[in-house]
Amino acid sequence: MKSIKKAVFPVAGMGTRFLPATKANPKEMLPVVDKPLIQYAAEEAVAAGVDTLIFVTGRNKRSIEDHFDKAYELERELELKDKHALLEMVRSILPPHVDCVFIRQAEALGLGHAVLCAKPIVGDEPFAVILADDLINFSKQSCLSQMVDVHNHQHCSVLGSMTVSDEELSSYGVVGGKQVDQGLIEVEEMVEKPALSDAPSNIAVVGRYILTPRILSILETTGRGAGGEIHLTDAISSLLSEQRVVAYNFEGKRFDCGSKLGYLQAQVEFALHHDQVGDAFRDYLKSLDI
Ligand code: UTP
Repeated sequence: MKSIKKAVFPVAGMGTRFLPATKANPKEMLPVVDKPLIQYAAEEAVAAGVDTLIFVTGRNKRSIEDHFDKAYELERELELKDKHALLEMVRSILPPHVDCVFIRQAEALGLGHAVLCAKPIVGDEPFAVILADDLINFSKQSCLSQMVDVHNHQHCSVLGSMTVSDEELSSYGVVGGKQVDQGLIEVEEMVEKPALSDAPSNIAVVGRYILTPRILSILETTGRGAGGEIHLTDAISSLLSEQRVVAYNFEGKRFDCGSKLGYLQAQVEFALHHDQVGDAFRDYLKSLDI
């Protein structure tokens, strides 16, 4: 099997939990300290060997396109002001060998539909899906890079997963199956947002997937499910009857930046480790009377 060269970034959601911030801007452009969520996600993909970034965008696509495009006026200004370090930073948002493709999801019909929109570019090879609002911190190897290693060994679809508490289960897609190795589950079933009594385990899927291209043909015939949307979980459930799928409990800490609390937690932790403001921010937090 080929290694993973293409990653799909569905960024066409409405982001209703972050209104009014997301009224004119996609939530994936919200910054954590000084970098938008989508840039963390793109860097994670590139570090895992991806060279084609496929953005499935919605009504507010401009700022994401602009972020990864050349910024002539800004570069000229920085050049004139001799701000070479900043110039280098805006020029190297992505390495030169990486291509960006933008596809429009005309209507927000769900995550499964967003992934299906990428079909003409993905073609017939395994690919990654990254939800940029799931920000994952790591010490040694990024989440997607760990998953690519698993894919290269297992030769099948890989779902990024983590163990969650009973109270959290109903917010996730939850998998059931057999543990076959340290942190590796052979998936037998997947249930979207189950009640505690229906959850097959405490293993929840987060926003990282490596999928075989078969999922795209399955999505073409996947009908609308809960909330009238086409769900990726439903298509993965169908895929399970044809192909092996594993879930991998990655090493790293995940922040749900689609929720206000998760986003604020990410700000704090990333700020504490930021090379420019980390120490001052730590002192500030200590000084707070909380
Ligand atoms: P969410 O379930 O977080 O929905 O989507 P949302 O619309 O972004 O946010 P809320 O719940 O209204 O606050 C999960 C991911 O799937 C993408 C989103 O952009 C997000 O990355 N998505 C969702 C699409 O690209 N298209 C869709 O139709 C739905």
